[in-house]
Amino acid sequence: MTPTLYQQIQQFYDASSGLWEQVWGEHMHHGYYGPNGNLKKDRRQAQIDLIEEMLAWAGLPSEKGFSAPYRILDVGCGIGGSTLYLTEKFGSILGNNLSDERVDRDSTRSGGRSNQTGDRVESVGITLSPVQANRATERAKIAGMASNVNFLVADALNLPFADESFDLVWSLESGEHMPDKIKFLQECCRVLKPGGTLILATWCHRPLGLEAGELTDEERKELAEIYRVYALPYVISLPEYADIARSLPFATVRTADWSKAVAPFWDVVIDSALNPSAIWGLLTSGWTTVQAALSLGLMSRGYASGLIRFGLICAVK
Ligand SMILES: C[S@@+](CC[C@H](N)C(=O)[O-])C[C@H]1O[C@@H](n2cnc3c(N)ncnc32)[C@H](O)[C@@H]1O
Repeated sequence: MTPTLYQQIQQFYDASSGLWEQVWGEHMHHGYYGPNGNLKKDRRQAQIDLIEEMLAWAGLPSEKGFSAPYRILDVGCGIGGSTLYLTEKFGSILGNNLSDERVDRDSTRSGGRSNQTGDRVESVGITLSPVQANRATERAKIAGMASNVNFLVADALNLPFADESFDLVWSLESGEHMPDKIKFLQECCRVLKPGGTLILATWCHRPLGLEAGELTDEERKELAEIYRVYALPYVISLPEYADIARSLPFATVRTADWSKAVAPFWDVVIDSALNPSAIWGLLTSGWTTVQAALSLGLMSRGYASGLIRFGLICAVK
């Protein structure tokens, strides 16, 4: 564990999450612009589409082997955008797939309360930022999901959960912050139930190897700048993530590179940062947020040159 890195991450999200929510909404991740990244769409829809595409790619939700409650862990949950989305979606889909008998029993136990999510899904979101955890908790209350969802400040490298306690471990753009990628995947695997699924999307650098070659000095400099601005220790390539996952007790591991599909996101962020209320918000959110905004071009150039990649892993235990 690197305390200064964790403090940087906490401060970065404590300071910037309010502004991000005001300008962009609850999802703090890329959008999905079609497999080749050429679809024009509303930016919020693109972010929801990313979640939907990741689920479809992983083959979830599936009622196979389902027994309530279905337990979801969102590792690096931000202000709970994915956590609440997944809780609601799995709650309604899995609820509809239960037998009539089960639904009757639920409705008697809940005093006839017609809550789609009911007691069918229990989710936990973890973040390093107390500001995010508080805001996520508030959002769960507003959405009427307070009894299904819990948000905590906790470390992904030392998860405060028993072995085999979750059906789904979801991590959307938090892996890049982890100072130990092996421990990160080990922890995700440890807390998954047998048959459970890990779905992870994270920033990577391009693959290395005999043909592709090692990172050049110029590439290392570009990465160092991205690390500095976005509070990242380092990133690795998708094949390196796959090797780690394959060394763990997962039954299957699949990967995909969705860089093309998500790359247009950064140009949309640059546009959104140019409106007057965003500029005012930036100026009042502190230097780390201003720096991150001034450096938005780094990521779009990283995708254009092929240095930055958006990697996905789906692993079933
Ligand atoms: C870019 S945000 C992604 C938020 C969310 N997944 C979303 O898509 O809206 C990265 C998140 O990772 C969290 N994070 C980074 N390092 C972490 C760690 N070691 N343990 C737990 N959370 C961590 C941050 O606190 C932040 O909530």
